[in-house]
Amino acid sequence: MDRIRIEGGGELRGVIPISGAKNAALPLMIASLLTRETLTLENLPRLADVRLLLRILGNHGVDHTIAGKRPGELATSGQTLHLDAKNIVDTTAPYELVSRMRASFWVLAPLLARAGVAKVSLPGGCAIGTRPVDLLLQALEALGAKIDIEAGYVLASAPKGLVGGKIVFPKVTVGGTHVALMAAALAKGDTLIHNAAREPEIVDLADCLIKMGAKIKGAGSSTIEITGVTSLGGARHTVLPDRIETGTYAMAVAMTGGDVFLQGARPELLQSALDTLTRTGAQIVCDAGGIRVRRNGGGIAPVDVTTEPFPGFPTDLQAQFMALTTRANGVSRITETIFENRFMHVQELARFGAKIHLEHDTAIVTGVKTLKGAPVMATDLRASVSLVIAALAAEGETIVHRVYHLDRGFEQLEQKLGACGARVERLAAAE
Ligand code: EPZ
Repeated sequence: MDRIRIEGGGELRGVIPISGAKNAALPLMIASLLTRETLTLENLPRLADVRLLLRILGNHGVDHTIAGKRPGELATSGQTLHLDAKNIVDTTAPYELVSRMRASFWVLAPLLARAGVAKVSLPGGCAIGTRPVDLLLQALEALGAKIDIEAGYVLASAPKGLVGGKIVFPKVTVGGTHVALMAAALAKGDTLIHNAAREPEIVDLADCLIKMGAKIKGAGSSTIEITGVTSLGGARHTVLPDRIETGTYAMAVAMTGGDVFLQGARPELLQSALDTLTRTGAQIVCDAGGIRVRRNGGGIAPVDVTTEPFPGFPTDLQAQFMALTTRANGVSRITETIFENRFMHVQELARFGAKIHLEHDTAIVTGVKTLKGAPVMATDLRASVSLVIAALAAEGETIVHRVYHLDRGFEQLEQKLGACGARVERLAAAE
């Protein structure tokens, strides 16, 4: 397994281009199952999760082509992907594939909506909590689906097609809202989704579905209205920039010090995280082209944070923020309200000399003056990158093991950080 070696202690200075959002790209790719026509996605990030989802979609009969580079395009420009689900040849998504990526479970909705039947393995994904799918299944049932669970598989059917209905989510769920949107787009009649997730990735999916001919109002608010149509067509859509990648690099600069321009980042996608960073003492300046993050000289002020659904502080930046507060001038309290087991990074951050004490859903972080490099183990995607951030600010060498977690969600991490002066190097498995 690859590892990453980081020689910490330097500042970050330069420009980091922000990639297309993984968590928008995945549901957008899955939406290709809803139409016989071509769905073209631009600004697609080059990530292991994207490649795995292409395999899963291919198994259902989706052909794809990735357009070659055009003159003037940079290595960091996103890819253009054409997806063609002319014929759905298989409505089963097997355990071997779905267990490796939770979001692939969402194929259940478009398969059911288009083919009237689907068999999808219960999902896997990052080890950050129990992560049930009950709300996703309830949403489909509200649209007339019959759901059974047998031998680890969800068997869903709607022989006469899905019918619009009222979906009331008892808690905000991003995946549930994606599934409800895709299913309702092809259901007969009207659907109302109450307590819908308001994440930017939901809006991106809804925008793409609207381009495909869906009738959707209210995406981005907590009530979404959908009027089903009999079929959807092809479309061309650009994946929005990755707010979690943006926030991750912003936190890295806030921790190491320096001055980095996050090119293509959009502040409205992560305002709460940017406000929090400002409170720690970082300077954030936004313009039409991106976000500039600086911290020169001054220390890191401690700040308390609670994760919440959008527009609150995102759970996907909790680990990175914790890394930052390990060097604050005082005590920060970080409360995780979305996932019950998303503190796997705590024991790894402790290897750098961080002082973190866990009390139920809250991590109490007492800042220390210096961190020291150490061998550490990546556990899940966002936890892994929190270790990279800590390593950049630590004295000496860090080796991050199990780097495949990072490759799932961060495009060209070493190159992007390296271009800003970080000493980061990938060690291939054999070394
Ligand atoms: C999405 O996961 C993201 N994944 C996650 O990012 C992100 O952390 C999460 O939303 C929250 O923002 C993708 O977009 C691919 P949820 P999702 O349904 O949809 C509970 C990353 O690192 N719940 O909003 O799976 C659930 O257990 C990943 O990129 C139920 O109880 O999350 C959690 O407590 C990690 N029953 C809460 O709801 C259900 O049926 C929110 O989960 C579904 C969810």
